[in-house]
Amino acid sequence: ARHRGKPAKGLRFTPVEPNTDDKVTVPEGYGQNVVIRWGEPILRGAPDFDPVRQSAKAQAGQFGYNNDFLTLLPLRSERGRQLLVANHEYTNENLMFAGYDPKKPTREQVEIAWAAHGLSVVAVAEDAGRHGRQGTGALRPVPRHHLNRRITATTPFQVTGPAAGSALLRTSADPDGRRVLGTLNNCAGGTTPWGTVLSGEENFNQYFAHADQVTDPERARTLKRYGMSGGASERQWERFDPRFDLTKEPNEVHRFGWVVEIDPYDPHSTPRKHTALGRFKHEAAQPRLTRDGRAVVYMGDDERFDYFYKFVSAKRMRRGNSADARRHNLSLLDEGTLYVARLSGDSPDDEFDGSGKLPDDGEFDGTGRWIPLVSGDRSHVPGMTAEEVYVFTRLAADKVGATKMDRPEDVEPSPRTGRVYVALTNNGDRGKAGKGAADEANPRNANKHGQVLEFAERGDGAPPASGRGVPPSPHFSWRLFLVCGDPDDPATYYGGFPKDQVSAISCPDNITFDDYGNLWLSTDGNALGTHDGLFGVATAGQRRGQVRQFLTVPKGAETCGPVVQDRRVLVAVQHPGELDGATAEKPASAWPDGPGQYVRPAVVAAWPRNGSRVGM
Ligand code: FEO
Ligand code: CA
Ligand code: CA
Ligand code: CA
Repeated sequence: ARHRGKPAKGLRFTPVEPNTDDKVTVPEGYGQNVVIRWGEPILRGAPDFDPVRQSAKAQAGQFGYNNDFLTLLPLRSERGRQLLVANHEYTNENLMFAGYDPKKPTREQVEIAWAAHGLSVVAVAEDAGRHGRQGTGALRPVPRHHLNRRITATTPFQVTGPAAGSALLRTSADPDGRRVLGTLNNCAGGTTPWGTVLSGEENFNQYFAHADQVTDPERARTLKRYGMSGGASERQWERFDPRFDLTKEPNEVHRFGWVVEIDPYDPHSTPRKHTALGRFKHEAAQPRLTRDGRAVVYMGDDERFDYFYKFVSAKRMRRGNSADARRHNLSLLDEGTLYVARLSGDSPDDEFDGSGKLPDDGEFDGTGRWIPLVSGDRSHVPGMTAEEVYVFTRLAADKVGATKMDRPEDVEPSPRTGRVYVALTNNGDRGKAGKGAADEANPRNANKHGQVLEFAERGDGAPPASGRGVPPSPHFSWRLFLVCGDPDDPATYYGGFPKDQVSAISCPDNITFDDYGNLWLSTDGNALGTHDGLFGVATAGQRRGQVRQFLTVPKGAETCGPVVQDRRVLVAVQHPGELDGATAEKPASAWPDGPGQYVRPAVVAAWPRNGSRVGM
């Protein structure tokens, strides 16, 4: 009987059917607009987008490429306006430049790509529209706003935290090891309770060349563990800047793979790279506060068989917006303890043969423990110094026996229940010879569709109640909330909800919550043969597990963002038209500007046309 009646509040829309249409499809009764596209000018003096005469200088003042993480921050003194922050993960040169020769990129093309990476901060305004004060839901960029900013692959960053200045971080351009140019491959991120933005440097390995010529065995070992073993890099930036050549500047690679923090309200601030949060392929970083006000940051390392981490700050957040409080809060992530997760299932190991069959107790579940890796200058890992743990965090986690997961992507605590959700997107190598076997948290071999793990810090839902100086409990409990894929496939699980009444979801990636406590998930790489999309699902109550599809994206695109507000939903449409053989001249998608135009990654808003709340 639980399936009768209305869907959960916030999810009352007609689900979008899976499709392969070359457009953004939203539910019946919803409007949509393209908020901002690759190349739109946002800084003073930046020209209009002209793909035929693009320049690095123009790109540095325009919205970047391949928008991933999105957040909307308040602009309290400006009615109808908010501040959009977007990550620009990477570039598709073959789609950006007509006549692009991947064997011989030009300096101008490389410099354009540097300027198209990073982040954008851009004010956006609601349409004054027919719904009066509420607007229509559409958003438009406000070019030349004083807070608009571009951060690129060449913007100076300050290195902070215990490994700042480490010998492992010193280069010929920066003998102090405290100042890095640029951020790369910024995937997902998080918004802090103190009003800043965190962003994860993910697949930074792809920018570094000639690992195959590194002869020192110790260096070769760490490079390999971080995904580097080849010759020339895909984009060949090393031809124009030797810092990307591992044989010329051995430590530059140690200066990427961090969580970066941006203060979007201060366009002149120097963004920071936080060594205290460890170095790996950071998908995202999502903070919350403990009861006593310390910051807890959850972080996934997006690699097959890699780990899930958290950081707990030593200091407590200060409330208020005074200059003193802001300065204090901006140092919160400099000092604390970094942990990695070890999970145990509660069902016998022999029930996990890789088929994904539910265990006899009816649930993939168990307990977990946070293993401390490093606190300030004190390493908890035998045989590694503190700075080695920070710079080679993956190797430290290997040593303490952390649990090898199916590609930890975005993570988000529920603002309603305190339970934390981790998207584990897929792992085609699970169960292969010499690779990790299936276990209760990663129960399927050749896992094409991924799963969503839910955990509760001890005390179920409440942040750890700890007095001054008392560390939070190292224990948590966990269960799989979704085992994704075709609902008709017995090796899937939708939170216990009847599977004939759900939208099929595959490859969850970026996640967020709405005000009602529903989890929203965007997908990357849908392995069910239809396009990626955005889905909402209740995590508690009668409707727990009722996944409903809200939106689909065009050909070749992944769905990112997402932001779910009272009256609008925002998604980032990343890499539209990214299909084998596609070029700028022969695009595989006509989105968003129609046939004969360059495909352009862009941000899309969707809203109920009747002026009501989303999903009501
Ligand atoms: Fe850039 Fe893990 O997705
Ligand atoms: Ca179990
Ligand atoms: Ca991602
Ligand atoms: Ca998120």
